[in-house]
Amino acid sequence: MGERTIQDRIILHDDLGTAEFDFSDMAFTNPAEVDAFYDETDRRLAAADQRWYFLVLYSGCVIAPTAWERFAARGKQTNIAFSLGTVRVGATAQTREAIREHAGRAMFRANIFETRDQALFAIGEMRKRKETLGALSSETFLRVENIHLSFGGVRSLAGVGFEVNRGEISSIIGPNGAGKSSMLNVINGVYHPQVGTVTFMGKTRQHMRPHAAANQGIARTFQNIALFKGMTVLDNMMTGRNLKMKTNFLQQALYWGPAQREELEHRRKVEEIIDFLEINSIRKTPVGRLPYGLQKRVELGRALAAEPILLLLDEPMAGMNAEEKGDMARFVLDVNDEWGTTIVLIEHDMGVVMDISNHVVVLDHGEKIAEGTPDEVRADPVVIRAYLGEG
Ligand SMILES: Nc1ncnc2c1ncn2[C@@H]1O[C@H](COP(=O)(O)OP(=O)(O)OP(=O)(O)O)[C@@H](O)[C@H]1O
Ligand SMILES: [Mg+2]
Repeated sequence: MGERTIQDRIILHDDLGTAEFDFSDMAFTNPAEVDAFYDETDRRLAAADQRWYFLVLYSGCVIAPTAWERFAARGKQTNIAFSLGTVRVGATAQTREAIREHAGRAMFRANIFETRDQALFAIGEMRKRKETLGALSSETFLRVENIHLSFGGVRSLAGVGFEVNRGEISSIIGPNGAGKSSMLNVINGVYHPQVGTVTFMGKTRQHMRPHAAANQGIARTFQNIALFKGMTVLDNMMTGRNLKMKTNFLQQALYWGPAQREELEHRRKVEEIIDFLEINSIRKTPVGRLPYGLQKRVELGRALAAEPILLLLDEPMAGMNAEEKGDMARFVLDVNDEWGTTIVLIEHDMGVVMDISNHVVVLDHGEKIAEGTPDEVRADPVVIRAYLGEG
């Protein structure tokens, strides 16, 4: 066997929807070597024009300290742009630790297996989950129709309608004041439109009530962080469980036993989410003391604690630096991947929107001016004129 080329180490298995990257026994000693691999990877993946499950083989791979930074950064970019979910094989404990440290918390979180077969099985499970969602999505998951909403004389939404498919990530974009937040507020029942209907999981309503929306599995985060600043991360996340709690606070005080058992169950679920979002080290910290990016992550955690079917995120990456945005993008993708949660998000960062969305709706002055895949929207002259052209 001669020396294997980079081309040989990137194998696209069409039948499995899986892209295999074989780093085994490779040594990356400097950033240029990392670039060589990832340039080829990105070229191949961009040419294939689809997302793949990633299978990454690490056995015997050595990444020198001088190459780590680049290795982590490039891997992350490629993941965000092309991965449907990633499984890894044969990473040593050391490699694993290094990857976690260098790639930032959000990446390479889990999914490390002993053997290639185990990894392929895991990919098979992920695909099955996606397919089940695909089958379900033939019925309307969420549809808003002809929504008119105004406040006094101020028009917020004028005849807006669109559909959201189950299991997908949809984005709402548009300039300031376009009506994006209002639209989320209509979907979760906080605003009641004068005209129009919201259909969610087969039920059509003139307007949703917030409590009904929450009960049906709709959770959201807000444009301005809405957390209890003096309370710890853990306690804030527990408030996300409120709807699921059978006993109320008074009962909890009176009947300590059953309430405590119930509390423990909720704790377990919340702990799972804390693990998932990698915020273990700050679980006892009052939220007000955390940097902004982490507060945003805690707010996502609280929404996830409600185990939503539909998650509405109002500018989850606003005010974040590039790295924090990358982390949040990865979490959004992971939530969608691992729990099949349908997500509607509002975001101004076009790069992020284009990278992670299946579907994009463009609002301007309360009207829908375009919708489609990220590529369709990006190429739409109306959108370019109204919005993208400005930035
Ligand atoms: N509760 C309200 N009372 C009065 N006017 C409102 C209310 N909510 C929204 N509006 C108005 O509706 C219009 C759309 O606002 P909305 O917050 O939905 O826009 P947006 O697209 O989310 O903007 P941004 O990008 O700035 O967050 C604005 O003119 C706004 O002032
Ligand atoms: Mg808004």
